[in-house]
Amino acid sequence: MAKCLTDYYEPPNEDTSLENRHVFVAAKTGGGKSQVMRNEIVPAKNVRAVFWDPDKDHRCNHFNNRRQYLTALAKAHKARRPFRIGWSGDSSKESFAWWCESVWGVLDGKFDTWIVTEELADLDMQNRTIRQYNTLNKRSRKYGGIMVGNTQRIQEVPKTLVTQSAVVWIGQHEYQDAAYIEKMTGLKKADLSALEPLNFFRKEKGEWVPAATKYRKFGNSSGKRNEFKR
Ligand SMILES: Nc1ncnc2c1ncn2[C@@H]1O[C@H](COP(=O)(O)OP(=O)(O)OP(=O)(O)O)[C@@H](O)[C@H]1O
Ligand SMILES: [Mg+2]
Repeated sequence: MAKCLTDYYEPPNEDTSLENRHVFVAAKTGGGKSQVMRNEIVPAKNVRAVFWDPDKDHRCNHFNNRRQYLTALAKAHKARRPFRIGWSGDSSKESFAWWCESVWGVLDGKFDTWIVTEELADLDMQNRTIRQYNTLNKRSRKYGGIMVGNTQRIQEVPKTLVTQSAVVWIGQHEYQDAAYIEKMTGLKKADLSALEPLNFFRKEKGEWVPAATKYRKFGNSSGKRNEFKR
């Protein structure tokens, strides 16, 4: 597996006929972003998927040790079998750049690879994007990469994430964000403000349509608080 995103490393089997399938999801906290990614976007089985998942919101083998993560990813890639491997360790920008490199290193145009990133606003890319992430966004398509990202704070991520994704899900927002989104997407402030959690507008092939997901229990502690043993 390539260890760095250099000009001279290219993943194998470039296939320019592959479409842009990138997906972006935005909603305020509790709006249902992780639910919609798990339930509606990233297939539950039989895929190659790599996760940037500091809060362990996705079903995958989580690692917080770089060596163990890289070893698991390289082994899974070599086996030519489906895998779900996630990073839940340090979530600094530097770690994110490293993680993006690890993903670039396992792309192969013969296979789809889902590249799932949680809370992109935390990476502070509004003014200056992270080069390695940029490369994935711009170039992974030809090597089977499908980027799925989300944010709570749409004003704090690069606009191109919204404008250049093939599919966009916009969920519940505060009123002041709704004004920004109206300008960017044409969706009406009033319609956005009326959205309930787990409800969205989805843009696909240029059309906005209402879309929703149903809450599905997840294997962490969600829905189990205050369940004291007697
Ligand atoms: N036990 C439950 N029963 C029914 N609905 C639930 C339950 N737990 C959570 N939900 C619904 O799921 C929503 C949370 O979804 P999700 O975790 O996908 O949000 P999110 O947008 O990813 O939030 P964050 O940005 O904070 O990660 C809640 O707002 C609620 O509507
Ligand atoms: Mg979430």
